[in-house]
Amino acid sequence: MNAIESIEVALDTLPENRSYSIHIGQGLLSRMDLLLPHLPGKKVAIVTNTTIAPLYLEKLRSALAEHHVETFAITLPDGERYKHWETLNLIFDALLEHRCERRTPLIALGGGVIGDLTGFAAATYLRGVPFIQIPTTLLAQVDSSVGGKTGINHPLGKNMIGAFYQPQLVLTDSATLTTLPDRELRAGIAEIIKYGLIYDANFFDWLEQHMNSLLARDPAAVNYAIRRSCEIKAEIVSLDERESGLRALLNLGHTFGHAIENAMGYGAWLHGEAVAAGTLMAADLSRRLQRITSQEVDRIRHLFENTGLPVKGPHISPERYLESMQLDKKVKEGAIRFILLDGIGKASPGDTVPTPMLLETLSACVADA
Ligand code: NAD
Ligand code: GLY
Repeated sequence: MNAIESIEVALDTLPENRSYSIHIGQGLLSRMDLLLPHLPGKKVAIVTNTTIAPLYLEKLRSALAEHHVETFAITLPDGERYKHWETLNLIFDALLEHRCERRTPLIALGGGVIGDLTGFAAATYLRGVPFIQIPTTLLAQVDSSVGGKTGINHPLGKNMIGAFYQPQLVLTDSATLTTLPDRELRAGIAEIIKYGLIYDANFFDWLEQHMNSLLARDPAAVNYAIRRSCEIKAEIVSLDERESGLRALLNLGHTFGHAIENAMGYGAWLHGEAVAAGTLMAADLSRRLQRITSQEVDRIRHLFENTGLPVKGPHISPERYLESMQLDKKVKEGAIRFILLDGIGKASPGDTVPTPMLLETLSACVADA
């Protein structure tokens, strides 16, 4: 049997214990011993999409059927552009048609889009039903499946509608990454680099040394990167589940990144690509505020470049960037707040910056037409 790594996301235990495990390993899709204890009844809904269903749905359904668990699949259209209200409603339609009750768990089988949609459906259907994450992209395995942020996009702003709702289990089968396209793999690495930047300089060093192994999908390197990322995210979420301070660090580069995703049209830039370019913008701002050195910015840029990720934002007017950034969840009393770096491995939450400086950063970090 392949080795399994397990990480605990420790949350308040009163009035109920909401802590949960992340299990990481190859072949976990068939490990019903890990899944069955979280299924209170003999029926589950599996939410997935048209790309993932032909790859992994039958494997999961037949493993559950062997244990007499009845499953039905809700297969959604694939893509960030479908992460909206109408698709959410397709989940509710199916849950109601199948007479799902409070004990019927929803399993999210897919990437971050499926995880965020399913989690929001689980948070709101019958005011809350059990929810399990089986993430199949690198990005979802290192970030979106952990921590309970769920939601959908609005035409005016990314992830602006949602709920905090924790899963009961995260089951990460790293073997699913064998079918993931290279571009999606690189997008996931953007969030992995984020953890090194905000929290762990040694992990950043490790990424500099092992990027080629990660890109070549070396199982040991991939499993280590997933584990270390989940350890950092679990620690941060345990300390600040509802983002009153520390958790905001996880949004490094996201204020710029979300603006890029929104302004370009959801799905044109992958989330991880937008985060990569956005992180370089946050690094540039941090340098202008003399919090980090030019040499540190160069190191950050090289790592993203070596990953094959964009290091400049798309050519959008500064006005459009500012307009999109105004619709960010960190905006307080109309002021945009940025996560800034204080070195590699160290960041601080929620700072405002003078608009002229912000415009200088945009002008330096946006690609020419
Ligand atoms: P995604 O869910 O769109 O998946 C990327 C693509 O890969 C899709 O086409 C998908 O069908 C396909 N795919 C998934 N698994 C596959 C596999 N094993 N083999 C082949 N193809 C596969 O994108 P993503 O990068 O996983 O997630 C991005 C989303 O996550 C964004 O909406 C972002 O806002 C959200 N997000 C949420 C959080 C959070 O904390 N909730 C954190 C980070 C990102
Ligand atoms: N991805 C940001 C968070 O989970 O807080």
